[in-house]
Amino acid sequence: MNNGHSDALVFFGATGDLAYKKIFPALQAMVKRGHLNVPVIGVAKAGWNLDQLRARAKDSVEKHGGLDPAAFETLCNLLRYVDGDYQDPATFGALRDQLKDAHAPAHYLAIPPVLFETVVGHLAKSNCGRGARVIVEKPFGHDLASARELNRFLLSVFNEHDIFRIDHYLGKRAVNNMMVFRFANTFVESFWNRFYIESVQITMAEDFGVQGRGGFYDQTGTIRDVVQNHLFQVLSNLAMEPPVSNDSESVRDEKVKVLKAVASIEEANLVRGQFEGYRQENGVAKDSQTETFAALRMEVNSWRWKGVPFYIRAGKNLPVTSTEIVGKFRKPPTLIPDSVLKENHLRLRLSPEVTIAMGMMTLTPGEGITLQTSEMVASHSPQADEMDAYERVLGAAMAGDSTLFAREDYVEEAWRIVEPVLKKGTPIFPYAPGTWGPEEVARVAPPGNWHNPSGTESVPEAD
Ligand code: BG6
Repeated sequence: MNNGHSDALVFFGATGDLAYKKIFPALQAMVKRGHLNVPVIGVAKAGWNLDQLRARAKDSVEKHGGLDPAAFETLCNLLRYVDGDYQDPATFGALRDQLKDAHAPAHYLAIPPVLFETVVGHLAKSNCGRGARVIVEKPFGHDLASARELNRFLLSVFNEHDIFRIDHYLGKRAVNNMMVFRFANTFVESFWNRFYIESVQITMAEDFGVQGRGGFYDQTGTIRDVVQNHLFQVLSNLAMEPPVSNDSESVRDEKVKVLKAVASIEEANLVRGQFEGYRQENGVAKDSQTETFAALRMEVNSWRWKGVPFYIRAGKNLPVTSTEIVGKFRKPPTLIPDSVLKENHLRLRLSPEVTIAMGMMTLTPGEGITLQTSEMVASHSPQADEMDAYERVLGAAMAGDSTLFAREDYVEEAWRIVEPVLKKGTPIFPYAPGTWGPEEVARVAPPGNWHNPSGTESVPEAD
């Protein structure tokens, strides 16, 4: 087991899309903050040399966040490149040479999952895996059996403590803030349970389509792409019990318990949709049955939550881009008629801004008994995060902190929940781009209906 800081970062897939959009900007930011000063070795099969990789890195940071000349120059000095086929042992011999004195490298597999086993096998045989960590990109498996198989293989080379399964939602400050809000404020505990909360809904809306990733997306779909991982992490943060300590395993133990308390989803509790025009995207089958929208209802059968429905809705080409959670309170036993009552809720907005707000009923100005929901905003910050999620998770993996990564048992529980319904081939309903999904979504709507997040939100400064 590796206890110290990684002394080199190797990233496979150096010429790929993820490296271009996320990894180079994260590396530049890490250098800028003084968090990266070890060799960074890109590996790919592109017939490139180091100068070409540097040029690609420059283009990447210019397009994604901006070039910081000083930090970028330092990054370029740290950068190395190995060009070669992942099937070829010579590629790993060249990597061994580049690693020089590094005894505890972190190997980041920013490559399609079908290549994981090949690369990990060669890492082991070439000795590049000794004392090393491995960082694996999602999707982690395609179903329960493939996730188990992948885990088994990774564990034959690395210790569980040295395996870092990336779910970049865990690197988002807004997602971590949910736990702070719950566990640093005594009053929250008094209402955040089945006695006060009637339902909880999580919406992840994106106002864009598959953005040229049709080939990948058509093999994946919304449930595998964002529900089984990102949104289950959000669910876990909402439903978990306070950890007994803040070490990584105590936190991850509580998250696994949430998923263990969730039954596998039944067909009646899922609606899948596909935006009109999806089948004309490059890489998408003409008769594709892959969902670009999913809404589902589930229950967390724990002491705290039994009987409270949790709803998750996610989709591409919806009216806005925002991720938001609304917990609705039960109706009070008041004499005010139900028809007059409005909504009492807790709203946690994770993006694009971060907002925590409590919706409360008050009398409207004027005559008569009409009520309105006014929100008390506990915190609002216009920017979701100043540190990108990738910067945070890469830094944590290199430091050996597992808290922000999915553990083996968690990943397997997540697959157990969605797998039966994925295998059933439930119907798929079309929806027009720019709408909130197919009409059929009403079948799994929360009491009082879905709360549709707004695109941007500005909250006036307090006097
Ligand atoms: C990725 C999915 O994991 O997360 C994408 O593959 C999705 O389809 C993205 O758009 C959303 O991440 P974020 O950080 O923009 O909310």
